[in-house]
Amino acid sequence: MEKIHAAITAVGGYVPEYVMTNFELEQMMDTSDEWIQSRTGIRERRILKGEGKGSSDMAVGAVKDLLAKRNMDPKEIELVICATTTPDMQFPATANVICDKAGMTSAWGFDVSAACSGFLFALTTAAQFIENGRHKKVLVIGVDKMSSIMNYEDRTTSIIFGDGGGCVLLEPDNEGYGILDSILRSDGSGRAFLHQKAGGSVKPATLETVMNKEHYVYQEGQTVFKFAVKNMADVSAEIMERNSLTSDDVAWLVPHQANKRIITATADRMKLSEEKVMINIDRFGNTTNGTLPLCLWEWEKRLHKGDNIILAAFGGGFTWGATYIKWAYDTN
Ligand code: UT7
Repeated sequence: MEKIHAAITAVGGYVPEYVMTNFELEQMMDTSDEWIQSRTGIRERRILKGEGKGSSDMAVGAVKDLLAKRNMDPKEIELVICATTTPDMQFPATANVICDKAGMTSAWGFDVSAACSGFLFALTTAAQFIENGRHKKVLVIGVDKMSSIMNYEDRTTSIIFGDGGGCVLLEPDNEGYGILDSILRSDGSGRAFLHQKAGGSVKPATLETVMNKEHYVYQEGQTVFKFAVKNMADVSAEIMERNSLTSDDVAWLVPHQANKRIITATADRMKLSEEKVMINIDRFGNTTNGTLPLCLWEWEKRLHKGDNIILAAFGGGFTWGATYIKWAYDTN
């Protein structure tokens, strides 16, 4: 019998209704639709509106979408891992809140914090519980309300981010489908270039940190861009090589959506034509942990059993990685 792999067997997604266009940003700061589109590929992004609404509310939307597709009882879920950079609260974990709100009362859960690579890190973590036989139904969520940590006076950073998220169900497979390989990397020295300055244990919130706008994303864009282009492309090429995959063998690249130029550089390195690359940055921007599951959610109907799919990400930390999946199902 083949080794047990963790296979994605369902996908759910959620984006908020409110569409923030580049034209709206033009009213808020010194920028232009032309600049944003040409430098990032983003036309609009979604923003979660409403008092008291957080990442968990979008995650619950995605979870309900997935459970409805499979006609599943939420109590069937055994473990929930949520990748997020914008948890509802500092503690408890957002996964716990999601389990409560979505009625997944038989599950245990925890969060994974790895910035834009969080979904890949969570997917690999979750896969272990399937591969070792501990669990049969594990939900992996990637979600962020980036608007909650965005300084809309900072035109260099705020124009790229948006809100949204998605989730996948992992189940055991012994026919050779599922998550077949992952290469994940961290380099903490990169933290200087992309982080939130205050609100953690090193610099708890004070009146001063709020006045200094230190509770927002701080990013040195150009430096992050250079590392992202190199590392996301390197790791994607490495996972292809390690699994003897040529560009003809790869059906889809699912890249983190941070900047269209980073996506193109990665695809070029893998020698993939644009038709094989999932791109929705134009409509959703960079939803951090949400980008990869949102791509799978939008493309689900076009995926076929046996498709070789490479997921790749790069983010704060620095963190980066690539995952090789043999897709496990056709959608009717
Ligand atoms: O998802 C996690 C990882 N994050 C990333 O991968 C993001 C990586 N970085 C990027 O995508 C890009 O660096 C940005 C999109 C954030 C910025 O694009 P850039 O091409 O690197 O611009 P830049 O920061 O080098 O700025 C170029 C010029 C500057 O003007 P001067 O100094 O040349 O006169 C900026 O002031 O563009 C100016 N600029 C803008 N102009 C209009 C910066 N932001 C804007 C703006 N609108 N929004």
